[in-house]
Amino acid sequence: MNTYTFPVLRLLSDGKFHSGEVIAQRLNVTRTTVWQALQHAAGIGVLVHSVRGRGYKLPAPITLLDELAIFQAMRQMSDEQHAGFENVFKLEVLNEVDSTNSYLMRQTAGAKDTKSVAHATCVAAQVQTKGRGRRGRSWQAGLGASLTFSLLWQFQCGASGLSGLSLAIGVGLIRALHGLGIAEAQLKWPNDVLINGKKLAGILIELQGDIEGPSTAVIGIGINMNLPENLRSAIDQPAIDLYSVAIGGVDPNQLLGHILKHLADVIKDFEQVGFTILRQEWSNYHAYDAKPVRLLMPDGREVKGVVNGVAEDGILLVETTVGLQRFSSGEISLRGAL
Ligand code: ATP
Ligand code: BTN
Repeated sequence: MNTYTFPVLRLLSDGKFHSGEVIAQRLNVTRTTVWQALQHAAGIGVLVHSVRGRGYKLPAPITLLDELAIFQAMRQMSDEQHAGFENVFKLEVLNEVDSTNSYLMRQTAGAKDTKSVAHATCVAAQVQTKGRGRRGRSWQAGLGASLTFSLLWQFQCGASGLSGLSLAIGVGLIRALHGLGIAEAQLKWPNDVLINGKKLAGILIELQGDIEGPSTAVIGIGINMNLPENLRSAIDQPAIDLYSVAIGGVDPNQLLGHILKHLADVIKDFEQVGFTILRQEWSNYHAYDAKPVRLLMPDGREVKGVVNGVAEDGILLVETTVGLQRFSSGEISLRGAL
């Protein structure tokens, strides 16, 4: 950590050149301090151009996350039913963290009892240095390149009652994206958001607690905002960002505010009724609904069939040559068959 890295990056967020001298004056520090702050930025993967005689510059303007702006976006969305929602919602924006999921999981593990952890806490990061996907895979992200956040939610039920949660979260994400005009966003079972068949976002849910309950879910979401080439080439599957589909891009604070509002809605439905109330809507958003697919099994086998919706617990239903088969998410990967 370096105290001045983010104040300097905030000054550079307009994407224009700023001389070391002017930055130093603005922050009331020496030019060496500015240089050290930017050395740290480079160490966490932030690319800053430095040109002799002109100063420092980010490759493009960026919008940094801002707690007030996120709450404002949530408030814009709030109807009477949601009025005051932000009062029960704890929100924290971190400048840099290894992983927002790991951060919240550490907090939960360290808590003496679940009552000392807020019912709903969102932690978002400007920079996440060790983002995780499912099964120990990594999630590529960078400053201005991605929206990375996790939502901790305490459930009364145990882990066994949360099997459809990741699909319910997918519905909340699609509602938010469609609401912001990203009509092409679709889901891929169990936990991806796609645009034109390319991965835009992923969901990683980690659970703590008893089988019987209560339990705590840490719901991690990563969304590509404006992926630079170095990050894109580190991803081993086709990826897409919002910058390439929405003219002028999308404001991350606006996006996060909208997502949190929609996640609160779907989680409330999920808690009160279960995934069943979101099941048809989920299938409507599924990129592979009624489509031929291949299912890659952990033992290397491949099962072919046509998707026939999902069950009430989020299990994928596939019509195969031997009849309707059920697949639970764990270790299985879904691929289009055409
Ligand atoms: P599945 O195996 O369920 O079909 P998947 O291949 O997307 O899904 P996940 O574990 O869900 O695998 O996600 C992790 C994967 O996501 C990584 O292995 C990588 O291929 C991809 N990935 C990592 N970072 C990004 C990113 N920023 N944008 C898009 N995809 C990414
Ligand atoms: C996946 O597709 O496998 C899930 C990717 C989830 C990435 C997000 S980014 C915020 C949160 N913190 C993490 O370390 N992972 C999730």
